[in-house]
Amino acid sequence: MIKISMSKEILPPFKRFAFYYDEFMLRVVNYRDWVRYVVKIFEYYKLDVQRILDLACGSGIPSILLAENGYEIIGIDSSQEMLAVFASKIINRNLKITLKHADMRDFTLDKKVDACVSFYDSINYLLTYEDLCRCFNSVAQALKSGGIFTFDMNTVFCLEHFWDNKKSPRVSQELYTIWENTYDPIKRISTLHLTVKTKTGEVFSEIHQERGYYPYEISNALTNAGFNKIDFYEHGTFEPISEVTLRMMVVAQKP
Ligand SMILES: C[S@@+](CC[C@H](N)C(=O)[O-])C[C@H]1O[C@@H](n2cnc3c(N)ncnc32)[C@H](O)[C@@H]1O
Repeated sequence: MIKISMSKEILPPFKRFAFYYDEFMLRVVNYRDWVRYVVKIFEYYKLDVQRILDLACGSGIPSILLAENGYEIIGIDSSQEMLAVFASKIINRNLKITLKHADMRDFTLDKKVDACVSFYDSINYLLTYEDLCRCFNSVAQALKSGGIFTFDMNTVFCLEHFWDNKKSPRVSQELYTIWENTYDPIKRISTLHLTVKTKTGEVFSEIHQERGYYPYEISNALTNAGFNKIDFYEHGTFEPISEVTLRMMVVAQKP
């Protein structure tokens, strides 16, 4: 058993973890399948998609897969570190990708997009309903008429009953990590205290927070932002969500 003492400094999300994100996430998530699912959504909604905004693109794992499929990508993220990792991966690659450092609650684009996608809980990082509305308004402005906004979210059920108040160690070749979650049922916010020890002996901690939203809140916020067709699916499928859905996929279309 590896023992690690808590690092004194607690960093904001993705400040240091950004540089280990890919090595960790690529073992946890099958991004190829997730990207295939999004492309299937484009087909299901009979869309001719060429230019995509990847909202909270992070280190660019899904963006790069989409760009390799021929799409033009605009990636925005508020973490300079995540964007730096992303930028380092596309040097000398002939991919149509533009990166922008921006907050998803308040951004504008020079050119409109056919679709906006957001992967892996990013929308859960918006901690108030007002922030959710600001984000959806910015997305609506960025989309062409008929365009879609599709994103996955952890459900309230997931944060409350699956993430819960758990503490779990996870080990990989490069990292030893401790994931310690606490859930506030009033605010519906899950707070993750993530402690990482790297192979070189560096230890750091970050706090990540995600909020759960009910489908009716998401629907209201999307409707108020001007979306008119809003669907919720069990992630990875075109089946409806249920009370025990852990991850939902939301698809909203602009008239
Ligand atoms: C779990 S990561 C997902 C990254 C990427 N979408 C993926 O699937 O690998 C969440 C991302 O959301 C970004 N993020 C959180 N709050 C944000 C905000 N207000 N504006 C822009 N990006 C934000 C973080 O910097 C981080 O890159």
